[in-house]
Amino acid sequence: MKKIVIANFKMNKTPSETKQYLISFLSKYEDYKTDLILALPYTSLSIAKFMIDKREISLGAQNLCDDDEKGCTGEISGKMLADSGVSHVLVGHSERRAKFKEDSKIINKKIKNGLKNRLSIILCVGESLADKNTMKTLSTLRMQIEEALKGLYENELENLIIAYEPVWAIGSGKTPSPKEIENAVRAIRKVVEEDFSKKAAQEIRVVYGGSITPKNISKFASIEGLDGILVGGASLESSVFLQIINAMI
Ligand code: 13P
Repeated sequence: MKKIVIANFKMNKTPSETKQYLISFLSKYEDYKTDLILALPYTSLSIAKFMIDKREISLGAQNLCDDDEKGCTGEISGKMLADSGVSHVLVGHSERRAKFKEDSKIINKKIKNGLKNRLSIILCVGESLADKNTMKTLSTLRMQIEEALKGLYENELENLIIAYEPVWAIGSGKTPSPKEIENAVRAIRKVVEEDFSKKAAQEIRVVYGGSITPKNISKFASIEGLDGILVGGASLESSVFLQIINAMI
């Protein structure tokens, strides 16, 4: 099975910087070795779409509006993303939960809206440091997943990836141990089994994200039950990101 590798550029790179990045990245990246998804800022989507044309690379966005109504100044709808060549969208990232006050209701609506527009969802879940210190990691994951997936049909999970991103590991240089990730992935699959089915739990794709670098990537490459990785800061330098990708093959 090919590993999933997702880059989240967050609010980095102008369209011309993205172009420069892709000139270098695309000349060295070998398609078909991983399932690569580039989640870029809205303003870089169009240049990236043009440049990755005919390559086996998926384009992702980092957010979408939870609504289809037209009176949403400043928002971007799922329909607009799909028509821009976007196939995936991040939902529930901890930065959006914290800074933009996205609660579980909004996250659930965004997921439904994305799926309705034939977008695949990358649902981010993860515990805070306080949760971890009070042994609430697994109950937090359960709550976040149950609330996010409320009302979904089992067949819709085909178009969903769950990204386990502990909040304390994002951008901090700290990472969980392989055992901790394995336990979290098992817990995530258990929630899916209880809410949907054993088959859904086996088939749902789960990735890990948080402070991944070329130095620590070997630790994430062969964790039981883990289908791939989600990379933030270390995806911003093409040569660094390529080192990470090559370690996943
Ligand atoms: P870092 O890799 O920079 O820790 O970010 C992870 C992340 O938030 C990806 O969504």
